[in-house]
Amino acid sequence: MNKAETIERLLPEIGSPRASGEHFAPSNIALCKYWGKRDAELNLPVNASLSVSLATLGTRTRVEPIDAEQDQVYLNGLLQAPDSRFADRTRRFIDLLRVNQPQLAFRVDTHNNIPTAAGLASSASGFAALTRALVEAFGLSLSPTEQSVLARLGSGSACRSLFDGFVEWQMGQREDGLDSHGVALPASWPQLCVGLVKVDAGEKPVDSRSGMQRTVETAHLYQSWPLQASSDLARLHEAIDSLDFALLGSVAEQNALSMHATMIASWPPLLYWQPQSVAMMQKVWQLRREGLALYFTMDAGPNLKLLFEAASRDAVLAQFPGIEVVEPFAAGAA
Ligand code: DP6
Repeated sequence: MNKAETIERLLPEIGSPRASGEHFAPSNIALCKYWGKRDAELNLPVNASLSVSLATLGTRTRVEPIDAEQDQVYLNGLLQAPDSRFADRTRRFIDLLRVNQPQLAFRVDTHNNIPTAAGLASSASGFAALTRALVEAFGLSLSPTEQSVLARLGSGSACRSLFDGFVEWQMGQREDGLDSHGVALPASWPQLCVGLVKVDAGEKPVDSRSGMQRTVETAHLYQSWPLQASSDLARLHEAIDSLDFALLGSVAEQNALSMHATMIASWPPLLYWQPQSVAMMQKVWQLRREGLALYFTMDAGPNLKLLFEAASRDAVLAQFPGIEVVEPFAAGAA
């Protein structure tokens, strides 16, 4: 099954865009990671994953139909070259909705308040925001769940950015992927904090898509990943239900390190860490030995995301001055 066939099932009729559309979507950090696809075309995952959305950190996207030969794609105010990776991915995603109207062109304005491609999941919030903006522009009646399915076709982790708070991406079973989408958990954790430690905010050399493909194809160690992920997912639910922070932090950290172990065991090896990443991990472990309830997670990049509770905020900031702290469940956030 290809993307066009999925769209046909999701949206049997797509009219002309009525107006412009503008929406925000939060970035998200996975506590149990999505790593590996059972269907690369549709971004269908090998395992279910669970994330927390980053409240006001994310992407705001505006789309507007224009009278032009091709799309004009802006990122943080800068017009992107038509053959750039960003413009190309954006255009190909919009193509899904202009199947019968190839002459349609859009101006797309994307503003990230997180560094693009720095392992801070800007593609997740980017495709979620683009999905919501396009749904509005085309006047489509799609539920949040259906929008999550659509966003997944742009980037897997984007299906979780349609929602706030804790979100589980249910992997689904269907071949067309209509049952593979984010589901918001009815849970809140007002004390939870996420600290963003930027080791390197530059473009990463191997993107998640190619990284996970390489891992699935070349790392024997990957065979243990689905088992790890499903046990971690169950334990995360337990931690969230009982607000057990030590359980949440330890499962998230072990899950991230297990994912990185499968990457390192790929060929050619895939090591996203920089010396500074390792130094930060060791610092977290040392602080934990000294009694601070501090854990980390990492995506396909060199940056750490610290996990702690509000009571430890001052102690964490004293050790990691200047880091950005997000409270996903603070009043008004989720
Ligand atoms: C390590 O969603 O960026 O951040 O579906 O190919 O676009 P594609 O991959 P992407 O992968 C994210 C991988 C991860 C873990 C996670 O967010 O769950």
